[in-house]
Amino acid sequence: MKTVQTINELQDFLYSNKGKTIGLVPTMGYLHEGHLALLNKARVENDIVVSSIFVNPAQFGPNEDLDRYPRDIEHDTELATKAGVDVLFVPSVSEMYPFESGISIHAGELSTKLCGESRPGHFDGVLKVITKLFHLVQPTKAYFGQKDAQQLAIIETFVQGYNFPVQIVRVPTVREADGLAKSSRNVFLSEKERVEAIHLYKALTIATETWIETKNIQDALAKGKAHIEQNTSGRIDYMQALSYPNLQTDLNNVEQVLFASAVFFENARLIDNIIVEVK
Ligand code: PAJ
Repeated sequence: MKTVQTINELQDFLYSNKGKTIGLVPTMGYLHEGHLALLNKARVENDIVVSSIFVNPAQFGPNEDLDRYPRDIEHDTELATKAGVDVLFVPSVSEMYPFESGISIHAGELSTKLCGESRPGHFDGVLKVITKLFHLVQPTKAYFGQKDAQQLAIIETFVQGYNFPVQIVRVPTVREADGLAKSSRNVFLSEKERVEAIHLYKALTIATETWIETKNIQDALAKGKAHIEQNTSGRIDYMQALSYPNLQTDLNNVEQVLFASAVFFENARLIDNIIVEVK
């Protein structure tokens, strides 16, 4: 595997592999098995696998965890090599954002819901970096996890709406044995919180099962929220059910329903979701 820090080196590498299919896996590093699922899928489906590690300042709010976001480039390099990545792009902030164009991308209505409500501007920042990565790498396919279901929905809609010549591939959420969704931010949980954190997924399971049985969405969400309140010290940011991927509250005649929740713990805000296929 080749690790490159500059756009020039990245593009030299891509130029020497012209004509091959390219799978892109954008990440912020501190890789875990969730990321590896994306890399493995990309490895199977493409000639060349490009992955990026970039803790993107544009998607962090002023009081968020940009400065303490976990990093371990050595371990990441080892994992990416094992996963068969061909080129790992690890740019600095000044390499990615050498000047401020003053032109911004707004993620629009989809970004006003769920995480967007408590993280204003977050999805604009995600689209900023994704647009740059798509232009730099020109991937055949790009891989994103359902763990970040809203991010995935926004990227799919953006790509469709603006004719980006890339296929977006959805990858299911990878979980710990006890159900907790793998996340780079899980390291911020205290021992006690780590035990409590499994109840986020449990609560979503209770909510989806209740809804499937009764079709009563208020009751389903109330039961899910109560489960988190009774079993964790965390503070619920939201628990909601929306159509997927267009994130509307009207659940009539939809094919997929997203049950999503975010919970603030002392040093980490965790998110998780379950997507229910409606027959
Ligand atoms: P990051 O949180 O590092 O995640 C990178 C990719 O891995 C995302 O597509 C995310 O959905 C996926 N992922 C994370 N945990 C997962 C899990 N447990 N199971 C399956 N997939 C998982 O998401 C970002 O970085 C950034 O916003 C990024 C897209 C890189 C833009 O900066």
